[in-house]
Amino acid sequence: MSVDAVAEKLLAWYDVHHRHLPWRAAPGAPPTDPYKVWLSEIMLQQTTVAAVKSYYAHFTARWPTVADLARANDAEVMAAWAGLGYYARARNLIACARAIAQDHGGRFPDSEAGLRNLPGIGDYSAAAIAAIAFGQRAVVVDANVERVTSRLFAYDGALPANRPAIRTLADRITPAERAGDFAQAMMDLGSSICTVRSPQCLICPLHDACAARKAGQPEAYPVKAPKRVRPQRHGTAFWIERNGHVWLVRRPTQGLLGGMRALPSGPWAETDPGLAEAPAEARWSEAGSVDHIFTHFALKLRVVTALEPIDPAGGEWWPVGRIEEAGLPTLFARAASRAIAAGEDRER
Ligand code: ADE
Repeated sequence: MSVDAVAEKLLAWYDVHHRHLPWRAAPGAPPTDPYKVWLSEIMLQQTTVAAVKSYYAHFTARWPTVADLARANDAEVMAAWAGLGYYARARNLIACARAIAQDHGGRFPDSEAGLRNLPGIGDYSAAAIAAIAFGQRAVVVDANVERVTSRLFAYDGALPANRPAIRTLADRITPAERAGDFAQAMMDLGSSICTVRSPQCLICPLHDACAARKAGQPEAYPVKAPKRVRPQRHGTAFWIERNGHVWLVRRPTQGLLGGMRALPSGPWAETDPGLAEAPAEARWSEAGSVDHIFTHFALKLRVVTALEPIDPAGGEWWPVGRIEEAGLPTLFARAASRAIAAGEDRER
């Protein structure tokens, strides 16, 4: 199969088998609102379609246009993002909406280069938005596209070092027309047929073109460099409760979970820091621990509680009964559940 035939076959498959997703235009139809494409692409980085859907619905209902989002209250946006992870994305989302409103007359630039200058828009997002929202020919490479492409060419250079070579191969099969549909077709193929394990080559529209399928071992691609083991870190979260309220702080903007509401916590260190940097002197009780995986390390967060009339500084009292509305990131939402469960155990 020629390189041109790959796009043709894939687009014909997409016309029939595309996923219906709320931010998508029908195959071949004029693109949807760039704001919606941008919002969905930022949410979909590092996050599954299933996890994104309810957040996307909430954001587009609460802030229907980029101008609305530009005017939004930072804390409300951060709270609405809580649970999606990678919180720098939410901070950049606000910054990008404001840059569009203030510096671009309320409109997204329509070129890859113009888009890449905006906060939070890197190579992948710039290409995806240019192709999907503006019909530009752009080479869109995410993990699905890397997998499909490396199999199609039986390309055996290891990731991540050979990412640029895979992009060059993806460039060769990207068509001049319908590049947005093509990119999304690669993603749909990667998530439904050309899956990481047990790809279903028998029903694949690229069956005849695929070198890895011919060689009999599509699962072997893409080749990946051995993973480094994730270091383990330890920390302590402090639950201070008084009159049905718990003490919450806001994390510094720079750094992990930056700008998010949180329980106070001390350093996250190689060894258990115990009560280092406790927000107040108190008799702390153990409430168990939660394990959480970040990109570069695993964290065991011990939870300790105090039920004394202490007065910490630099935060706010939040009603325990409405803790779900605090917009805590998943790590601290889980730590809060541990503290609440330990409190209930004590009362029994
Ligand atoms: N993952 C990232 N962007 C996507 C899109 N537009 N469609 C499906 N999956 C995606």
